[in-house]
Amino acid sequence: MSEPVIEVRHLSKSFGTHVVLRDVDFTVNSGDVTCIIGASGSGKSTLLRCINLLETPTNGAVLFHGKDITAKGSDPCAYRAKVGMVFQSFNLFNNMTVLDNCTAGLRYVLHQDKETARKTALANLEKVGMAPYIHAKPRQLSGGQKQRVAIARALAMQPEVLLFDEPTSALDPQMVGEVLAVMRQLAKEGLTMIVVTHEMAFARDVSSHVVYMADGVICEEGTPADIFEHPQNPKTVEFLSRFRQA
Ligand SMILES: Nc1ncnc2c1ncn2[C@@H]1O[C@H](COP(=O)(O)OP(=O)(O)OP(=O)(O)O)[C@@H](O)[C@H]1O
Ligand SMILES: [Mg+2]
Repeated sequence: MSEPVIEVRHLSKSFGTHVVLRDVDFTVNSGDVTCIIGASGSGKSTLLRCINLLETPTNGAVLFHGKDITAKGSDPCAYRAKVGMVFQSFNLFNNMTVLDNCTAGLRYVLHQDKETARKTALANLEKVGMAPYIHAKPRQLSGGQKQRVAIARALAMQPEVLLFDEPTSALDPQMVGEVLAVMRQLAKEGLTMIVVTHEMAFARDVSSHVVYMADGVICEEGTPADIFEHPQNPKTVEFLSRFRQA
């Protein structure tokens, strides 16, 4: 029986007077692949950033195994070691090799010794097909390769949950497939994932739960079949029709 890992409870976020998220409420169970879809500006990145504490929610809470991680006294570093994030623009350290990118968190956050960190990093680079590039610098890699390194770096921390913010949006079309293939494999292995994406085929085929956002609220959520085959809200129908035509 899967249990809640992340619970987003009545979360709101404003920047000044601009309300970006309103009463967003959903639950991610262990092993879920939750895809968040929605138009540009609907608040998807802000929601993910609130879940990872890169933004402080204005109201509401984010619970991790039932504990409010937005409460005073909770340790954001310890939480982020458990809930990793992969960004659209990779966010690799450009002055460091692929291997050093993947060992940095292990050494300085998890305090692993050099050899243990190297082994963990290598195992995860192998998993994403990037072991042959350990001595390369990010500038020598394609976008798809950089993103696979970023995924290996996040995986090396052995997170319980991985958050992805449009991981393929900055990639040339021919590189999208290699990154989605890695993510499909992780889903198959049971990793709990929250994925903001415009890749509707991925959302339809890989996710267990789909959240459709519009103007800072959850408009509709359900299984991929609910959302893609039997959408109830006219806004969802309209949003998805744009992808059918594309
Ligand atoms: N730091 C900030 N300060 C002020 N406004 C912000 C900030 N971050 C986001 N916003 C605003 O919040 C709204 C939602 O932005 P967000 O980036 O979360 O949307 P999104 O759904 O991720 O869009 P996209 O698909 O283009 O990535 C936008 O109107 C944006 O301008
Ligand atoms: Mg975004």
